[in-house]
Amino acid sequence: RDEARIKDLIARMTLAEKLGQMTQRAGGRQKALNSKIDAAALDAVRAGAVGSYLHVAGAEALRKLQRVAVEESRLGIPLLFAMDVVHGYRTIFPVPLGLAASFDPEVARRAAEVAAVEAKVSGLHWTFAPMIDIARDARWGRVVEGAGEDPYLGSRIAQAQIRGLQGDTLASGDGVMACAKHFGAYGAGIGGRDYNDAELSERMLHEVYLAPFQAAVAAGSGSLMTAFNALNGVPTTGNADLVRGVLREDWGYQGLVVSDWNAIIELVAHGAATTPAEAAALALRAGVDMDMTSGTYADHLGEAIAADPALLTLVDQAVSRILHAKARLGLFEDPYRFGDAARERSVLLSAGHRAASRQAAQRSIVLLRNEGDLLPLRKGQRIALIGALADDASSAIGSWRAQGQPDEAVTLRRALEPLGIAYAPGVSPRDADESGIAGAVETARAADIVLLAMGEDFDFSAEARSRSDIGLPGPQDRLIDAIRATGKPIVAILMNGRPLALEAALRNIPAVIESWFLGNQSGPALADILFGNVSPAGRLPMGMPRTSGQLPQYYAHGPTGRPANPDLSVDSSRYHDVAIGPLFPFGHGLGYSSFAYSDLAISPDSANAGATVRIAVTVANTGDRDADEVVQLYIRAPVAGMSRPVKELRGFQRVSIPAGKTRRITFALPADTGAVWDGKGFTAYPGTVEVIVGASSEDIRARGTFRVTGKASGSIAPP
Ligand code: IFM
Repeated sequence: RDEARIKDLIARMTLAEKLGQMTQRAGGRQKALNSKIDAAALDAVRAGAVGSYLHVAGAEALRKLQRVAVEESRLGIPLLFAMDVVHGYRTIFPVPLGLAASFDPEVARRAAEVAAVEAKVSGLHWTFAPMIDIARDARWGRVVEGAGEDPYLGSRIAQAQIRGLQGDTLASGDGVMACAKHFGAYGAGIGGRDYNDAELSERMLHEVYLAPFQAAVAAGSGSLMTAFNALNGVPTTGNADLVRGVLREDWGYQGLVVSDWNAIIELVAHGAATTPAEAAALALRAGVDMDMTSGTYADHLGEAIAADPALLTLVDQAVSRILHAKARLGLFEDPYRFGDAARERSVLLSAGHRAASRQAAQRSIVLLRNEGDLLPLRKGQRIALIGALADDASSAIGSWRAQGQPDEAVTLRRALEPLGIAYAPGVSPRDADESGIAGAVETARAADIVLLAMGEDFDFSAEARSRSDIGLPGPQDRLIDAIRATGKPIVAILMNGRPLALEAALRNIPAVIESWFLGNQSGPALADILFGNVSPAGRLPMGMPRTSGQLPQYYAHGPTGRPANPDLSVDSSRYHDVAIGPLFPFGHGLGYSSFAYSDLAISPDSANAGATVRIAVTVANTGDRDADEVVQLYIRAPVAGMSRPVKELRGFQRVSIPAGKTRRITFALPADTGAVWDGKGFTAYPGTVEVIVGASSEDIRARGTFRVTGKASGSIAPP
């Protein structure tokens, strides 16, 4: 029925109405939603000149706007309402990088589900999330929005987020439409500079940067967004090989593709097109269905079609995909089914949603260092809390906070206030003022232990927030030195949206917690960890470098005949002015218990590329607390006439194990898991695959091998 309805509509549409469907307008600004919905905007809707709005929200307001489209435009086609609902709508969850640190796809799914429920009652159909760009250079400000450096972890988190946002199927009406972004390799901008070109080998592109997108397509993401940047010299928004070729033809993607904000007209600035009409034609030929805000399709595609009428077929295809998205959301049946002003009040920030946010925050916290079991805190200790970030409610909810309100976030200071803990802000990351240091030192001196919040405020890591030096901004280093000089034991609580380079800052600090920006329930969740109500078990989804000069840095780097060697007189692949490797590696994180791994079993030990290999390992909780462990499975793939990464994640399980108990953990691994991109597809080569089981990418607890017999290629997808 949808097919017939859509064909009929397209047959009856004028070219202007078609281009209208392909046009998304901004209904406001990020911080002033709906502010542009004026009389002229409503006239454009009546004229059928708009297919979708972004930066709008609110059940009442959107119902009114939808009524104009449905009742007052010639064809009555409903509008699509979109917003960046990235880590919560009103109930704010940890920023995406933090959620990925949970190493728990169920947490990511649930966070997305709550976001979708809240967005939906507020009238939204579509969110520009998840951002699934792999990021290996923490100078890039948008690392905060993704799942970190690893394509396997990124793919699992992306799929969970899409399931959470959309529900089981988009048509079930349980969720909102997801938009996996930014296709592709936006995270690989040279030097970590936002919007910068990505220059990548085909192999790196397919195995690392595109893998999460293929996973998102497999998970049924209703839409994808192209990126701002050029990939190997061709802007992705005008890149037919990438969008029409890889995405549509190779992966069979049928969903909606939207450009990023103004990215179509920016094809001119890129030099890929000389006129707006050429830019419009280029994006359309590439396979971009909807133009976000630039108006280039609406204003200039007509000119391009006059020059090349064959473009009309592509226009019809784009309109068809947009109408199909509307149909899948059920908007033709009931254009008002999203948005419920009565439920809006009871659903937003409900107790259940806040509880889910607190649990997600607990699970996202990573204990990086805990010398002498300084944590958990002990009863009777006099505690000082120092650092302006500890009371920065706006930072607690991070960037892309949708309708999140800072005054609805509970900071660490507020959470600890009832315990009578002494607080001194000391210094702030944004402010050169050092006058608070003396007071902070006094506060520290009067305590037995100091909780020292440090990092970046939320606005250091976001779009267009690249930094060349990812040390601590402002006078924080001076504050740390002064507190360190008191000799009091310090627990550093990092608050940041990107890994920071803190080797010097954290010297002689016995306990370090990475807390990202944890959302509404930031303070209570941190208190749960600090006081030991919950044992931490988050793991780093991006390694933390020692210095900015080590960037880009990632654990799955290639091998070399001259590997890094601590002996400086040896020719080896390392920097001479900094110790080898990251300060804290990918996958690292501690808890309040300890775990022993034993009895690795791999069966069969020889398998065809198409077969499954079972890997089992016993994990014992050898401590005296119930706790979670994240068991990580890495491989090193067979020699295939080319260099393969020294390690690649292929499985992880976050498991709860009571004190003194053991659990047998099993993984099912496709024998072709080491397949490599060979230019046409993935090929698995015969050879020995190393199996590496660890508690992090560097804390390896068991090793084994299996053999792959025979070569396979064809329909192998990235893991
Ligand atoms: O979704 C975002 C995108 O990630 C960056 N540019 C603006 C879009 C819409 O807000």
